[in-house]
Amino acid sequence: MDLVAPSIPAPAEADIDALVRELIGRMTLAEKVGQLQQVAGNSGQISDSLAQAVRTGAVGSIINEVDVDTVNRLQQMAVDESQLGIPLLFGRDVIHGFETVLPIPLGLSCSWDPDLLQRGARMSAVEAASSGVRWTFAPMVDIGRDPRWGRVAECLGEDPYLSGVLAAALVRGFQGDDLSSASSIAACAKHFAGYGASEGGRDYNTTHIPEGELRSVHLPPFKAALDAGVATFMASFSDLNGIPASANRFLMTDVLRREWGFDGFVVSDWESISQLRVHGLTGSDRESAAAAIEAGIDMEMESSTYRAHVEELVASGLIDEETIDAMVANVLRVKARLGLFERPFTDPAAFSSRGNADHLQLAREAAVRSAVLLKNDGDLLPLNRERLRRVAVIGPMADEPQEQLGTWVFDGNPQLSQTPLDALLELESQGLMLDVVRGLELTRDEGEAGFEAAEAAARAADVALLFVGEEAVLSGEAHCRADLRLPGAQEALIRRVRATGTPVVVVLMSGRALALDGIIDDIDALLCLWHPGTMAGPAAIDLLFGNETPSGKLTTTFPRVTGQVPIYYGQRNTGRPPTPETYVHMRDLPRGASQLSTGNTSYHLDTHYTPLFPFGFGLSYTSFAYSQLTCDTPEVSRHDDICVRVTVRNTGSRTGTEVVQLYTRDPVASVTRPVRELKRFMRVTLDPGASQEIEFRLPVYDLCFPGRDMKMTIEPGVIELWVGGNSQASLGTTLTIVS
Ligand code: GLC
Repeated sequence: MDLVAPSIPAPAEADIDALVRELIGRMTLAEKVGQLQQVAGNSGQISDSLAQAVRTGAVGSIINEVDVDTVNRLQQMAVDESQLGIPLLFGRDVIHGFETVLPIPLGLSCSWDPDLLQRGARMSAVEAASSGVRWTFAPMVDIGRDPRWGRVAECLGEDPYLSGVLAAALVRGFQGDDLSSASSIAACAKHFAGYGASEGGRDYNTTHIPEGELRSVHLPPFKAALDAGVATFMASFSDLNGIPASANRFLMTDVLRREWGFDGFVVSDWESISQLRVHGLTGSDRESAAAAIEAGIDMEMESSTYRAHVEELVASGLIDEETIDAMVANVLRVKARLGLFERPFTDPAAFSSRGNADHLQLAREAAVRSAVLLKNDGDLLPLNRERLRRVAVIGPMADEPQEQLGTWVFDGNPQLSQTPLDALLELESQGLMLDVVRGLELTRDEGEAGFEAAEAAARAADVALLFVGEEAVLSGEAHCRADLRLPGAQEALIRRVRATGTPVVVVLMSGRALALDGIIDDIDALLCLWHPGTMAGPAAIDLLFGNETPSGKLTTTFPRVTGQVPIYYGQRNTGRPPTPETYVHMRDLPRGASQLSTGNTSYHLDTHYTPLFPFGFGLSYTSFAYSQLTCDTPEVSRHDDICVRVTVRNTGSRTGTEVVQLYTRDPVASVTRPVRELKRFMRVTLDPGASQEIEFRLPVYDLCFPGRDMKMTIEPGVIELWVGGNSQASLGTTLTIVS
């Protein structure tokens, strides 16, 4: 039981509206502006200026204070010592866990398991709420199609539909069934919108996104979060087509309020309002404040342009006080829905202990289900414990309690971490011989001094387990990479071990898809764990030794080389798509090859045009066959449902879980459409030899897209459908939309 605090009756909306109106009616303009200001806490310290600001109602929210006694002291100042007694809202980045850390969101997304993500967010909310946090800046639902961008680690992959399903699950997990429960925390859909398209994969960079692309790719996951009841949104840092999100009225008002009917509040990103001047959109903080207000940014995070200029902007008539009232109402509404007016204080004793056995077990389950088996030559995996005498454990990520947690883990507790080496030492105590050699101190190291010992260990072993990847600092916000190969001398280390002839298992722990074309042939088995969180060790060993069977599927395409980026499955066909017939590698061009000898289709001369591993791909320790694909609705109107059925059979010798995926394509439309779009998926667990008929039923309207007028449209014509275990599924059929 995670919470024993007595629940309060969820406040009725009518009562909330009355409370909000009554409060605003009593507030001075200065107090209204106070509710729109978020400031940073100071790790348990309360400065005189902060205490003064709280007591005078000059602050409405505090970020990054997680000492529960300090939270309660600040809350007591706000509630008992200020004129209006409005409670503070305490916010924190609870992105993939709190003290117990789950895999990074990109990893979690590879589970394709909404229920798992919901349970993970619920666990995270309980741990965070016990410290006084009632608002998280998650889920991050930016579409990540450029792994150079460090923040792909936080996203839910490259696909709008899957990201939306998983975002909704996270919102439900964070917010619970009743937002006013003491263990519920308000979620925040971020970064609205289009941040994932940052040019060059460089964080905070400019984005150029045509409205059609915005509406078909970047906005859908935000809409899914809103439909799931997300309480808040966060504006992105990024410049969208010349108007930074923090001053972008089209996003914050036209789409979010008028089209979607959002009634929570929007917070800026960290100082993103004051950065409007840096962008070159405004010439002063005063102009920035006005621009953000006119766009629809309710609360200002950390910078204080509102505090400095709103009263004068209202006095000058540039901003109506009614506009400020509406912003304040949005903030007070969310505070009321959280039950903060009835129960402003946190009783830590009401919560289960953080990092408890149940939470650790969930973290272990999540790490197992997030893992993706990318290569397994000769069925090297799972390792047979009985036949193994000696194992070489090599690499800079085998025993890194903090690094395995990944990015955005301010409250992660490395003392709770169980590393792969910890788990292997358990096996050593049962007789397995281990040779442990780091080979490299850090993933970034270039030196090869440790290679000789690694080589010797591998030579003497039955199998070499190499734990490589990226330290946590190489991914996440502001941590972008222009070269997606394994950092440092890790490729060289793998080659050196491979040269011994001992079978090589690489366990990859990274915050992004990497470019492995140069090393993949030196790897016999490749298991991608992402940054797997607290329970990396038990999960890794469960998978390597077959206690668990991998079921993860990629939600982000693995390029062959960095130069292929952006490469993702849902690309458009172009007028000259590459084909096996027209592709020729430059090494195969004859001397003096003519200008027209390379097929003239869309590919790079120095690498194959396909990804190394496609979206939706993941191996198992068993195998699955698809058959009998039928469409029960060969002709449909826009108001009908589509029904597709397929039979999946476990053709291997172990029970396994397959993620059955349904893709569609509209081959002829008034605007060109992606060559494939994921429309449904289902996790299916089958025993050896067992089969199951899977039915997908979806409204035709789920195939809509923004037409030339930007209105969502459905057009008559043929629709192609495929069902399979990844985005390159070949089992297909068609249907026709007749009206
Ligand atoms: C950061 C991030 C945002 C985060 C916020 C508060 O700069 O962009 O995702 O929630 O500031 O930490």
